[in-house]
Amino acid sequence: MERIAVLTSGGDAPGMNAAIRAVVKVAASRGVEVLGVRRGYDGLIDGDVQPLTRRLPGGGRLAPTADVETMGSLGGTVLGSTRCPRFLTSDGRLEAARRLRDAGAEGLVVIGGNGSMAGAHAFAVDTGFPVIGIPASIDNDIGLTREALGVDTALNTIIEATDRISDTARSHHRAFIVEVMGRHSGYLAMASAVAAAADAVLLPEQGRSYDEVIAAVADAIRASFATARDKNRVLVIKAEGVDIPTHHLVNEVSAELADLPQVEVRGTVLGHLVRGGSPSFRDRLLAGRFGLTAVEGLVGGATDVMAGWTYGGERGVPTSDPFIRLFALDDVLVETEALMDGTSAVTMDRVRRMEAIQGVLAL
Ligand code: F6P
Repeated sequence: MERIAVLTSGGDAPGMNAAIRAVVKVAASRGVEVLGVRRGYDGLIDGDVQPLTRRLPGGGRLAPTADVETMGSLGGTVLGSTRCPRFLTSDGRLEAARRLRDAGAEGLVVIGGNGSMAGAHAFAVDTGFPVIGIPASIDNDIGLTREALGVDTALNTIIEATDRISDTARSHHRAFIVEVMGRHSGYLAMASAVAAAADAVLLPEQGRSYDEVIAAVADAIRASFATARDKNRVLVIKAEGVDIPTHHLVNEVSAELADLPQVEVRGTVLGHLVRGGSPSFRDRLLAGRFGLTAVEGLVGGATDVMAGWTYGGERGVPTSDPFIRLFALDDVLVETEALMDGTSAVTMDRVRRMEAIQGVLAL
């Protein structure tokens, strides 16, 4: 294999640039040139590529371009990203494969979330072009990997934000409802609630009704601010996927607590703030491990697979890294679906553990 391409697709995530850097460096070390595809699958269909490796004068050894040297610490994706409806069609995918072959590429690394992995699988099946996925999404909603790129950084950002909010909340003896991203997945809310010592957490996976959500928040605030307690802030972390707008929830809960006029409830939606920022150490390390195993996989003839941080067990194909395996993309997609609809053992375990610590959170 002499040349491969790499792209980022879907919502950006911290660590995408570190993964591009890893792919380029590992490929260059194996004598494989790398093309960067701009604007995700859109750029693939349009043939919008830039070289990420160059030949050094004399000897012809490959090295990363200057951009690659500096990108690893940057948030977002320097290649740009789109959600691309054209790639949902077979014509779009065939055109993309034609463009790649014209550019002399013999393999493709796709860095992105669950929609991007679905696109990568359809591309491999339709065109026979070798493709390997690297999971990247702050939502942590991709099957068969403990964590996707971006999750750790997003959690660190949330914790910093909730620490700041707790400062002002304590000063005024207030309750805060803080909404964190996660379209269909409560993972960020769940993990950050534990780390931030929140008093309650609201997840879509709990399947609570509108009234149950309001009652749960009101109860948490009542219990925390009960006269026998000396708490001076209440923190409730709400996942974006819980289908009640946060300002609405604040109003409903305030009305529910009308008998406690001294209790003030405020809301903050962290939104896209959580998606940006320089990747954490762990995201950079994970990016390096995914990048290494993706390139080794492509060069070794693997295709239609995703590199995943293994839970252990026999699934997937081992790599040179004991913690990373290559999983068939169709298995990844089935498990992703199960993660979302709650039938996955991973989701059930997350909800069970959250229910189990509910009483601890409230203390
Ligand atoms: O999937 C990542 C994510 O950040 C979700 O948490 C969020 O719901 C969505 O993307 C937001 O998408 P957009 O940036 O297109 O508004």
